[in-house]
Amino acid sequence: MLYRYLLKPILFRFDPETVHDTFIAFGEFAGNFPPLRALIRLTYDYRGKSIARVVDGITYRTPLILSAGFDYNGRLTRILPAIGFGGVEVGSVTARPCEGNEQPRLTRLIRSKSILVNKGLRNDGVETIIARLKRTPRVPGFVIGVSIARTNDALSASNEAGIADYVESYRRLSEEGIGDYYTINISCPNAFGGETFTTPELLRPLLSALRQVPSKKPLYLKLPISLPWEKLDELIAVGIEFRISGIIIGNLQKDYSTLDFRKEAPKDYRGGLSGLPTKARSNELIRLAHAKYDSRLTIIGCGGILTPEDALGKIAAGAELLQLITGMIFSGPGLLKKIANAIAR
Ligand SMILES: Cc1cc2nc3c(=O)[nH]c(=O)nc-3n(C[C@H](O)[C@H](O)[C@H](O)COP(=O)(O)O)c2cc1C
Repeated sequence: MLYRYLLKPILFRFDPETVHDTFIAFGEFAGNFPPLRALIRLTYDYRGKSIARVVDGITYRTPLILSAGFDYNGRLTRILPAIGFGGVEVGSVTARPCEGNEQPRLTRLIRSKSILVNKGLRNDGVETIIARLKRTPRVPGFVIGVSIARTNDALSASNEAGIADYVESYRRLSEEGIGDYYTINISCPNAFGGETFTTPELLRPLLSALRQVPSKKPLYLKLPISLPWEKLDELIAVGIEFRISGIIIGNLQKDYSTLDFRKEAPKDYRGGLSGLPTKARSNELIRLAHAKYDSRLTIIGCGGILTPEDALGKIAAGAELLQLITGMIFSGPGLLKKIANAIAR
């Protein structure tokens, strides 16, 4: 109520990225300030019967993970457990720091319940993020995954340099023991050129190179939702060849015709859509992947979880874990407890 009727109307008057940066600063401060953290926990944390899940050897207190892109610099790992999250996917991180694309990087499409994302992988770079996560005391039982992408700069534009870039981040994270699981984000385009790794011909050498890095931790592949199922299926088959533990379905929606209010978005493509426009397609793909790969792969459902019913819909489609961002931005941190209660029921 507080968020919806007081905070949100004020916050939504300001530039989304400024609000985001303010929230990160507040969340980081609250996480390190025990009285405020305790107050937030009292208000927002889930305290019902256990809905814990063990997935690929990792225990999640709740099956709810903050999806990649919100806590991209790993600053919120101490406050997120207090609002009902079982884990966070930090990143996407890249081997070198990235400024990101030119502003505006985020645009709210309020009536369509979506955010137009054109962030261009803005992040502090893997070394800074490793150092930050190392010096931040961990909250016991809270899972930290790390999403890895290719640096968005001219140096990593070629496919070979792109692969080396992914490998560098993965190797450094593994060496330092940072991250409980890793996700390879293959579908972010590089503004400086080069392909995304969304064909079997490109994905195979990427996974082959990543598999040279010694690691026993689960490795997931985050899939685009804009490809036909047959194409995705080919990518999943390559993933299985290289013993990935699972797939995240999926990333942002590129098709603007899925917007309820098409006019809210610019005419030409300027980034992917989150929230409601991703929901139907993500659910459809989860269902197809579940029917074919159920026992062989973990499926993490992501895209358009705006209500507890949406979360249950993803579980019914075959997802074992859930990831979200936009629902929390539109409904506030109280959404997590509501979802957790619905799962418990
Ligand atoms: C602001 C923002 C930034 C994002 N950045 C990333 C990113 O860096 N890496 C990634 O894999 N996905 C990124 N995404 C996509 C989300 O992780 C998620 O796949 C997508 O938003 C669908 O979930 P949602 O509808 O719950 O937001 C981003 C999404 C948003 C809204």
